[in-house]
Amino acid sequence: MKILIIGHGGREHALLWKLRADAPQATFYATRPNPGMAPHCIPVDLAPDDVDGLATWAEGEDITLTVVGPEVPLARGIADRFRKRGLPLFGPSAAAVRLESSKAFAKELMQRCGVPTADYRCFTRWPEAERFIREHGAPVVVKASGLAAGKGAVVCTTEEEALEAARTMLRDDAFGDAGREIVVESFMEGEELSVFGVTDGRHVIPLLPSQDHKAVGEGDTGPNTGGMGAYAPVPGVGPELLSTISEEIFLPILDAMERAATPFRGLLYAGLMLTSDGPKVVEFNGRFGDPETQVVLPLLDSPLLELMVSVARGGSIADAETSFSNRTALNTVLTSGGYPGEYERGHTVTIPEELRRDPDLLVFHAGTRKEGDQVVTSGGRVLSVVGLGDTLGEARERSLGAAEKVSFQGKTFRRDIGWRAAATEEAAAY
Ligand code: GLY
Repeated sequence: MKILIIGHGGREHALLWKLRADAPQATFYATRPNPGMAPHCIPVDLAPDDVDGLATWAEGEDITLTVVGPEVPLARGIADRFRKRGLPLFGPSAAAVRLESSKAFAKELMQRCGVPTADYRCFTRWPEAERFIREHGAPVVVKASGLAAGKGAVVCTTEEEALEAARTMLRDDAFGDAGREIVVESFMEGEELSVFGVTDGRHVIPLLPSQDHKAVGEGDTGPNTGGMGAYAPVPGVGPELLSTISEEIFLPILDAMERAATPFRGLLYAGLMLTSDGPKVVEFNGRFGDPETQVVLPLLDSPLLELMVSVARGGSIADAETSFSNRTALNTVLTSGGYPGEYERGHTVTIPEELRRDPDLLVFHAGTRKEGDQVVTSGGRVLSVVGLGDTLGEARERSLGAAEKVSFQGKTFRRDIGWRAAATEEAAAY
């Protein structure tokens, strides 16, 4: 079996890790793999968004399964290109991934299907957006409708902030094409939750729920990042709530997508807010989340590969069985100093050998590259350090202990990943 992974961040390293565990005999390939992935796969020197180049290459190599990490190749139609050539690929078509690549499309569909989400309005012209914001006031969330590398949603606590966000998107072109249409939606109070649904277009298998910490600072303060850490599962989110999320959120959307002849097959990621009125959708993504994947996959005991192969071949997962660990995983992301602002690259990364040997630790690479025989920093989010434990406290202690032992100049990380769940766990202990 030949498996190609598209992408080379922490999420893709975790996907490679899980799929290797599922299929130790398979040959793995990855686009420009990071140094954590490189020893376990054959490098393919094509950019993840070179969708035509990758389709031609995969056809030549007779690749059995392709798994797409990032959203951009999906939005550029990589799944359509591969399917046209009869190449199995796990990931939605360009039409289906509009659930992520057009927030306006997703909101309209949710409204039509009665899927719970915040009230909203869409705008393509600044004067109308300005009038609405002045009438509506704050707090609101202003979102670029298109793909904006995770930076397109601005939570605005004052009217002035909302006007500024809308103006920079619509009038000053801050996000280019992605911001030509904006969504202005009501602010939702609650806790965020990420739920990944593996789907064949009709049936959905939710993986364990996780929570991501997007803000750079402890206590969830400061500017948003790609994600400073995550943990799974989330206390209080049990089978009953997951089944509500399937019935009221995933399935109506999948049904509507199928009826529109644009079935969504792949990984549907629901970014939710747990409000006092129940779970509501903040956003959908058509791919695995980063850094949540790094904690969700280590807790999936059953194979991911079989699900992916069925979905990629257009089959059904109705009878698939999945099982999950009852442990907890917690991921501390180590970033370059200054991230998410300006940061330096090229600093030597040292990961002590003892961390590689500990079965309760996983170190996934993200913004690293090889320079001679050294690993050096090459991005804002450098490594994910995942601790596994029988309790959240244990997982956190392992992750933090390992985070302290890794070294590179400027290393920065949050020490409070999982703080909400820790408070629940501590309260439960009394
Ligand atoms: N964890 C947020 C994302 O992957 O979009």
